[in-house]
Amino acid sequence: MQKEIVLTGITTTGTPHLGNYVGAIRPAVAASRRDDVQSVYFLADLHALVKAQQPDAVHRSSLEVAATWLALGLDTDRALFYRQSDVPEIAELNWILMSVTAKGLMNRAHAYKAAVQANEESGSPDPDRGITMALFCYPVLMAADILMFRASRVPVGQDQKQHVEMARDIAQRFNHHYGEHFVLPEADIGADTAILQGLDGRKMSKSYDNTIPLFAPQKQLRKLVMRIKTNSLEPGQPKDTAGSALYDIYRAFATPAEAEAMKQRYAEGIGWGQLKEELFAYLDAHLAGPRAEYERLLADPGHVEAILRAGAVRARAMAAPLLADVRRAVGIRPLGPPG
Ligand code: TRP
Repeated sequence: MQKEIVLTGITTTGTPHLGNYVGAIRPAVAASRRDDVQSVYFLADLHALVKAQQPDAVHRSSLEVAATWLALGLDTDRALFYRQSDVPEIAELNWILMSVTAKGLMNRAHAYKAAVQANEESGSPDPDRGITMALFCYPVLMAADILMFRASRVPVGQDQKQHVEMARDIAQRFNHHYGEHFVLPEADIGADTAILQGLDGRKMSKSYDNTIPLFAPQKQLRKLVMRIKTNSLEPGQPKDTAGSALYDIYRAFATPAEAEAMKQRYAEGIGWGQLKEELFAYLDAHLAGPRAEYERLLADPGHVEAILRAGAVRARAMAAPLLADVRRAVGIRPLGPPG
């Protein structure tokens, strides 16, 4: 039986944080162990160029993201794990898809619209100021990522849902015009996956600068946990777990029984200071093992490189036959047997 293909990309900007772990990496690593799906996970380093034009940061982030997934136990024999830029078939498909993508569809992309709106609000006479073609066409490259591997399910955050819908639109347009070549993908928003609160109580996100890096060294981890926002209730006063960032983070790691016990201690008035010490110790104990492995991998980038290259060989072998069909379908074919 053909396994369902579940694919997602990780943009290589920044350092993975607790929110990425709980919301995306942990469920993805778990899903990759299932026998009924083929997981396809990749470093979206071409997408990273859209947001970050700092070469060293993009390069470093690729290593950090790859090392994070490997340290957390991603089994790269089972899951297909590669770097987008190592698979040139994706870039070629991107161009072919451009030719069936309506500009008007891209005009409606949230990310592009938000950039235009920011320009308008800043009073700029040019609504497209600072907006590159890469930002504008970002959803087409994402469609190529998805369609190239015949993925039917794409686990993403809410903010990426529209992009997956666009990939579906683009696939439909192509199939309609050139015949059935692409599987129509669907976004999997995972209603049950946690959205973690950050240091300031808003969603943990690098755009809010309120994150706790997943593998922060022990000292930094402690410092950051101490900075998590609480309220002015004193020790002894009953506290509510609802809205408490400390509780939110604890619960994301704890067993249901542990979380229930913690709720009780909130009600009994445990002090914020003590809670922070306990949360730090708890996180530190949970992360120490993978953190050591992460550090080992960072110190051996050649090993990470070899894993990614091996993934790319497999990915290209999967991509090549579909790309060959697509090229033929659009009229890019040999003119005759070479004489
Ligand atoms: N755009 C996605 C993000 O920022 C990353 C990504 C790139 C992706 N290509 C993808 C996700 C394909 C799913 C499928 O989160």
